[in-house]
Amino acid sequence: MTVEKMAEYLWGLPEQFTSIIEQGIKLTPKYRRQYSNIVVTGLGGSAIGGDIIRTYALQKAQVPVIVNRDYDMPAFINSDSLVLAVSYSGNTEETLSAYQQANDKGSSVIAVTSGGKLADIADKDGWDVVKIPGGLAPRAATGYLFTPLALILEELGIIQGAVHDLQETAQVLKKLRQEIQPDIDWPQNQARVIAREIKNSLPVIWGSSARTETAAMRWKAQINENSKAPAYCNNFPELNHNEIVGFGMPKDLLSQMVIIILRDPQDHPQVQKRIEITRDVIRSQVKNIIEVQSRGESFLAKFYSLAYVGDYASFYLALEYGINPSPVEVIDFLKRELAKD
Ligand code: F6R
Repeated sequence: MTVEKMAEYLWGLPEQFTSIIEQGIKLTPKYRRQYSNIVVTGLGGSAIGGDIIRTYALQKAQVPVIVNRDYDMPAFINSDSLVLAVSYSGNTEETLSAYQQANDKGSSVIAVTSGGKLADIADKDGWDVVKIPGGLAPRAATGYLFTPLALILEELGIIQGAVHDLQETAQVLKKLRQEIQPDIDWPQNQARVIAREIKNSLPVIWGSSARTETAAMRWKAQINENSKAPAYCNNFPELNHNEIVGFGMPKDLLSQMVIIILRDPQDHPQVQKRIEITRDVIRSQVKNIIEVQSRGESFLAKFYSLAYVGDYASFYLALEYGINPSPVEVIDFLKRELAKD
């Protein structure tokens, strides 16, 4: 995939939500029943949709939603579990292994994939397969990967308002992309400003538990994969109980750090207070502290508006480093090596 293609996919994210909404999700009636838990199983770009739905469901659902990023499924899954097996390629070995365990334990399974082995096996086992468009890098297909999860839970009556929230998200992102797209130059373009600021530095992204934590995780992963650079993330209030103490030494490393704080007006008031105090505590130790504000009304619009700035910032950081954001050769190498007998 070329640099231009990645730019196209970034631009096209809002349309990913609307195209899946228009297509709709048609589940076979056997899925309409009570579940005691929901497990989304996947890795990397396919798992992050699981974290978005997990945190979204925290606000809306009576059933716990957890994310599994492993070969093994948690011991508690049984015939009362709904398992959403998500793999963009359909060939990720951990997801195929977890899928098998869910099937063996009698859980209800739905596969979300563009094809691959997962589509074939789930289809043969008699489970619904939600097919999404292929040919993208999984991380560039976040709208295609997340929207089915939200629509499935809405269709099953586990959450309400997902379509409305996704439509709002698409509107918010369409407006935001006008401000951060490649034609808008530094310093008007917030994503370009951040990319320049974190170039040759160590970005550390802080979110808040249950609200912006997944956006922080997405920023980190996008900087890793698009910009081929290190980045780390953590959340308030937890980081106030450990990480905050680690700003003493080594001074030269700390002076290379740029802290990016993702802000949401719906953060707990005490979390907002913690952010203010923490900024003052670390200000003189680090290179810079940047804040990014969420936009929109719904949880999803807020999440994606924060994540979208990070998507573009990681793209511009790759360009600053003279790197093609698209290939992830080390991931491909690892998958090939692990597939060998
Ligand atoms: C993101 C990326 C990886 C994959 C992960 C799992 O662009 O390349 O994080 O998402 O290796 O692969 P899939 O999504 O195909 O199951």
